[in-house]
Amino acid sequence: MTTPDARLSANRLHCGARGTLAVIGLALLAGGAQAAPDGKDVFLAQKCNTCHSVPAAGVEATVKIEKMKGPALPTASMATDVERQSHVVRQEELIDGKKHPKKFSGSDEELAALFGWLGQLAAEPAPGASGE
Ligand code: HEC
Repeated sequence: MTTPDARLSANRLHCGARGTLAVIGLALLAGGAQAAPDGKDVFLAQKCNTCHSVPAAGVEATVKIEKMKGPALPTASMATDVERQSHVVRQEELIDGKKHPKKFSGSDEELAALFGWLGQLAAEPAPGASGE
């Protein structure tokens, strides 16, 4: 009499465990794929190059209107002030009393990769970059 019930619940348990394993497997796969976004790819994908050139990487600003342009990156403060810059591009902190014109919409990992890339380039600041 107890057999069908017992089998049923054993079956459920079994399915549950497989389901959990599948979820863990997917999470691992997704985590692996996101582990190392490329900073330059993120910069271009987010269209930061509309307004910012990155001379050290051969990236030109594409906007035609000169006064829309931001400073060439990385600025000198790039290496020392990443935390603040991250808030600026998320529009969580003002820059010169204004919102940064574009809000970074990617993940924290992508933002970290972006600033990691700029930080590396910052070892040699862009010619003409003021850092202010
Ligand atoms: C529409 C034009 C525009 C776009 C697009 C843009 N920026 Fe900017 N950015 C500016 C301007 C203008 C400033 C200077 C603001 C100021 O100093 O008042 C600036 C400033 C900055 C600064 C501060 C530099 C410093 O040392 O003070 C950083 C960092 C920055 N931008 C990163 C980015 C990133 C990353 C992206 C892409 C997600 C991006 N910007 C997209 C116009 C833009």
